[in-house]
Amino acid sequence: MQIEMKDIYKAFGKNQVLSGVSFQLVPGEVHALMGENGAGKSTLMNILTGLHKSDKGQISINGNETYFSNPKEAEKHGIAFIHQELNIWPEMTVLENLFIGKEISSKLGVLQTRKMKALAKEQFDKLSVSLSLDQEAGECSVGQQQMIEIAKALMTNAEVIIMDEPTAALTEREISKLFEVITALKKNGVSIVYISHRMEEIFAICDRITIMRDGKTVDTTNISETDFDEVVKKMVGRELTERYPTRTPSLGDKIFEVKNASVKGRFEDVSFYVRSGEIVGVSGLMGAGRTEIMRALFGVDRLNSGEIWIAGKKTSIKNPQDAVKKGLGFITENRKDEGLLLDTSIRENIALPNLSSFSPKGLIDHKREAEFVDLLIKRLTIKTASSETHARHLSGGNQQKVVIAKWIGIGPKVLILDEPTRGVDVGAKREIYSLMNELTERGVAIIMVSSELPEILGMSDRIIVVHEGRISGEIDAKEATQERIMTLATGGR
Ligand SMILES: Nc1ncnc2c1ncn2[C@@H]1O[C@H](COP(=O)(O)OP(=O)(O)OP(=O)(O)O)[C@@H](O)[C@H]1O
Ligand SMILES: [Mg+2]
Repeated sequence: MQIEMKDIYKAFGKNQVLSGVSFQLVPGEVHALMGENGAGKSTLMNILTGLHKSDKGQISINGNETYFSNPKEAEKHGIAFIHQELNIWPEMTVLENLFIGKEISSKLGVLQTRKMKALAKEQFDKLSVSLSLDQEAGECSVGQQQMIEIAKALMTNAEVIIMDEPTAALTEREISKLFEVITALKKNGVSIVYISHRMEEIFAICDRITIMRDGKTVDTTNISETDFDEVVKKMVGRELTERYPTRTPSLGDKIFEVKNASVKGRFEDVSFYVRSGEIVGVSGLMGAGRTEIMRALFGVDRLNSGEIWIAGKKTSIKNPQDAVKKGLGFITENRKDEGLLLDTSIRENIALPNLSSFSPKGLIDHKREAEFVDLLIKRLTIKTASSETHARHLSGGNQQKVVIAKWIGIGPKVLILDEPTRGVDVGAKREIYSLMNELTERGVAIIMVSSELPEILGMSDRIIVVHEGRISGEIDAKEATQERIMTLATGGR
């Protein structure tokens, strides 16, 4: 399928998001779409598939002007969309999720469960997914839910598949499986629009790249004719010299320590500590138990055994409120479920947990609150027309920044970051890293869980690796390499 979008304009209220974007897709290509958070990538694809209507501009498909009035219509015409935010119905089974709105039934209206199961199984096999079709989708991990979404899109036999940040929650193995599938699809003439902030993936799988900035298309080129630095420069409009700011840590006392902690069936005998001013990177494969450990430390789940020490005193953490009281902060990997109130303004999302500091006499000091919120919006380059905008209306990456702003505002002494830069663009990533440095300079201790090895290596002072629910090793950052971490992460020595 040949798609041409020409001179597309789109505003949301006063926010002019697209002002003259052009985009072309030819059969059998994998076309990367890149740009900073809020550049309008998801919006452009929502316009193509009929979720939003453009204000101006033409769309033609195989040479004929075509406008879909909703995503379902686009899907019927062979364009499938794997969205950035997952659309899983947690109470329904995996099978029901796969066939929602597309159930196969007999002429008499009887659901043909066996037929659907066979089709689902076939697709899962292609993706090496081993999930029970009868299990509730809500019980699946974020990564598994992502695979369900991918399978769902593939089952439509689309000619064009839009993948918006498809790998954010996937394991290395799942990613390479996905890439195999993409390569096979390409051979059959299927085209893919590939949206990602992970540059390594763009260079591994894409044929061409279109870069957007300030609502316009900056450039479309062949991947083979460009490189990392050039792409970054076109995206942010300036040279970005280093990906990681230099760290000169000054380490204080052990401020947080966990000894022999276990949660049945999740992890066992976990012991580690972090000093004030230190960044401890926590590496490991997806599913190794890193997030489970962090949840338990923060009091979301109960420890079955083990001790927690804060500033040299043995203590316990009963629940998240208690954790916050004791100086802990937790930026979760799943911003939509745990970190963000979608139908609440950015201002309230950031300020609500801090209200006491703006209301010394019981009355909110709105001026102080506004200054505080604006500072964080600026610092984290949250792209929004106003602090009153509801979080729902922000782009995916900008939502992540609001979650970070909220926790920084609370001012914890120990900050747990779970995948802090997932879905965040290169420029903003760097801002987050500098902010981490500033926090540690003020004595904050940071525990950072990350699946991106370069990030672990670039920012940690010490690295612990988790394998199948146990800590399989600890490495000083100076001696760490990708290979050493990977060896420990896969159970080697
Ligand atoms: N439904 C909406 N209502 C109002 N504003 C919106 C809506 N959807 C998107 N926007 C705004 O449009 C702009 C572009 O958002 P979009 O989601 O397309 O960005 P993106 O390039 O996909 O970013 P990211 O990399 O963070 O996913 C943002 O400023 C966002 O706030
Ligand atoms: Mg997006």
